[in-house]
Amino acid sequence: MDHFLYKNGQLFAEDVALADIAASVGTPFYCYSTATLTRHYQLFTEALSPLPHLVCFAMKSLSNLAVLKTLGDLGAGMDVVSGGEYLRAKAAGVPGDRIVFSGVGKTREEMRLALTGGIRQFNVESEPELRALSEVATALGLVAPITIRVNPDVDAKTHEKIATGKKENKFGIPISRAREVYAEAAALPGLKVVGIDVHIGSQLTELEPFEQAYLKVADLTRTLRADGHEILRLDLGGGLGIPYARNNAAPPLPLDYGALIKRTVGDLGCEIEIEPGRLISGNAGVLVSQVIYVKNGEDRDFLIIDAAMNDLIRPAMYSAHHDIVPLTEPEPGLESATYDVVGPICESGDTFAKTRAMAPMTEGSLLAFRSAGAYGAVMSSEYNSRPLIPEVLVKGDHFAVIRARPTFDEMLNRDTIPEWL
Ligand code: LLP
Repeated sequence: MDHFLYKNGQLFAEDVALADIAASVGTPFYCYSTATLTRHYQLFTEALSPLPHLVCFAMKSLSNLAVLKTLGDLGAGMDVVSGGEYLRAKAAGVPGDRIVFSGVGKTREEMRLALTGGIRQFNVESEPELRALSEVATALGLVAPITIRVNPDVDAKTHEKIATGKKENKFGIPISRAREVYAEAAALPGLKVVGIDVHIGSQLTELEPFEQAYLKVADLTRTLRADGHEILRLDLGGGLGIPYARNNAAPPLPLDYGALIKRTVGDLGCEIEIEPGRLISGNAGVLVSQVIYVKNGEDRDFLIIDAAMNDLIRPAMYSAHHDIVPLTEPEPGLESATYDVVGPICESGDTFAKTRAMAPMTEGSLLAFRSAGAYGAVMSSEYNSRPLIPEVLVKGDHFAVIRARPTFDEMLNRDTIPEWL
């Protein structure tokens, strides 16, 4: 169910009118729905039941502490990719034994942090990383639970910047070399092999690439067990896509994805871990912005809004589509206008949509980018010295600012002018 709906002509987040939040916190801002986060997490746990499983939220998609606590309190684990994310997960109350550590470039410092703070497993991506982790764990007198991320050389059929499972990508070790790398891992001190990890990409809109990858992982599980390794867990990554444009065909549902997991690896007696990010957070968030000017260009009209590519970079970076809707519901039958929707930043890439048909807008009109919960706030920057925008969490009929807009003083005070200047 969609928790961003029009009621009495106004767009609501659950039971709060987005225009009321705008009046209170100013624009632009991100707004997240607790009910959507909760429901999407539960869709995965339901889809995987009765297999033993842990849904580890890929917090790179949305890492505000209040969101992490919402999910962590439901029992979610976290997939972290940096020391900072690890500390955020812990600060939100997620215990170490529900945190998996992914990423190709974990530093020794990050390894120490997670080993001493408690970690469910490291998903190791290379032989040098294996050796470094062995050294760090041994020096601490600890044992690091590990999986090795295998690269199955599968085409995820997604945008090239977010495909990770082909041999030309930097991720994992080639599945063809898995046996020798597992043998090395088993021989190294301070490491304990607990399973296998795979992740082939993000925003996948078909199940077939997952199927190919998971069948390879099932084969590998049998081979590695025959070699004497204990394969207790399979981390099957994230990547299930979401509908960004309302008119497009919807990608497969978590239930279908769960059935696929059961079909491909369900008989191996392994605990299943998955790392969904976008499907949990994407449609749980909107970005609300206000029209600054409507500029009539020579051959088109520009809607110049107060959000920009520094706030939501996905259209500029991946040519991503986000539906843009007015906060005031258009009258039925109202003829739509066509705009290029752009931000105030000084480059032409600061364009959210070209020749987009939408309800006519005027100066001061409020609008919302849908499906902006994932890879929105987390990828934002202060480019053009624009303050990071606030994040708001709604639950039922109340809302709270979960990250405030910094003041300009706070921004300026982070810089230091050397005394010799
Ligand atoms: N696990 C690993 C190891 C990953 O690298 C990722 C995403 C995920 C899980 C979660 O994937 P998801 O379920 O969210 O698709 N900034 C891009 C997406 C980058 C995805 C990176 N890795 C975007 O805005 O589309």
